Amino acid sequence: MGENGRATAREIAKRHLDAGDPIGWFEDLYSSAGEDTSIIPWADLTPNPNLVGWLDRYGTTVSGRALKVGSGLGDDAEELACCGYQTTAFDISETAVAWSRKRFPNSAVKYVVADLFDAPDDWKGSFDFVLESYTLQVLPPALRAEAIQCVASFVALDGMLLVIARGRDTKEPEGAMPWPPTKEELKTFQSHGLKEISFEDYMDKEDPPVRRFRVTYQRVSDKSIKFTTT
Ligand SMILES: C[S@@+](CC[C@H](N)C(=O)[O-])C[C@H]1O[C@@H](n2cnc3c(N)ncnc32)[C@H](O)[C@@H]1O
Repeated sequence: MGENGRATAREIAKRHLDAGDPIGWFEDLYSSAGEDTSIIPWADLTPNPNLVGWLDRYGTTVSGRALKVGSGLGDDAEELACCGYQTTAFDISETAVAWSRKRFPNSAVKYVVADLFDAPDDWKGSFDFVLESYTLQVLPPALRAEAIQCVASFVALDGMLLVIARGRDTKEPEGAMPWPPTKEELKTFQSHGLKEISFEDYMDKEDPPVRRFRVTYQRVSDKSIKFTTT
C-alpha cells in the first residue's frame, strides 16, 4: 500500500468505524478517488505477485469456475480469467465494479456488486477455485470470524481456496488498517470443512519486505486429495 493512499484510507475507515459502519468505507474511498488510483492504497494495477507465483507453480492443478472475493480494480480476477478459469469477481463497492468494467471492457470476467456477508445463495459450494487476496486484512478484526465462514462457504466439494494476506504473530499489535490476521485465525478455515494443504509464511519482495501468509485449502470429500505442494 502506498503511504498517501493509506493515510486517506485510514481516515475514511475511521470515520465509518466510529459511526458503527465497518464496511461502508470502501465505497466512500473508491468514489472519493474520482478515478485517481493513487488514492486507493492497494491499487497496484497489476496482478498480485503472490498470486502469480502460486499460479505459476500450481495453477494447472485446478480448473473450472473461479470466484475472486473483494475484486478491487480487477487485476487478480483478470489474471484468473487469463489462466482459463470461468471467473466471477465481486466487490461491495459499486464504483470499484464499474471501474473494473471500464478498465477491462472486453473482459471475460463477470463483475458483480455483492457483499461478502450477504452473497447470493447460489454461490454456496459452487466454485472450484476461490481467491481471497487482501480483503480479510482490511475488514475490522471483529468481522473476521464471520468473513472466514462466508469465504469458506463458496468452495465446492473438492474445490480449492487460496488465501493471501499479511501475517502477524498473536503477540504482535493488531495493526491499524490493514489488520493482519494471525495463523491461528486462518486455521479456523478448517472448522468450515476445508483441509489445509499448505501454509506458507514468508517475507515478500516488496520494498521494504512484508510478511505474508499464503494458504491453500481444499474442501475434501471421500475422494483422495487431488492437490499437493512440494
Ligand atoms: C484491500 S482491497 C483488495 C482488492 C484486490 N484484491 C487487490 O488486491 O487489489 C479489498 C477489497 O475488498 C472489498 N470489500 C471489502 N469488504 C467487502 C465485502 N463485505 N464484500 C465484498 N467486497 C468487500 C473492498 O471494496 C476492496 O475493493
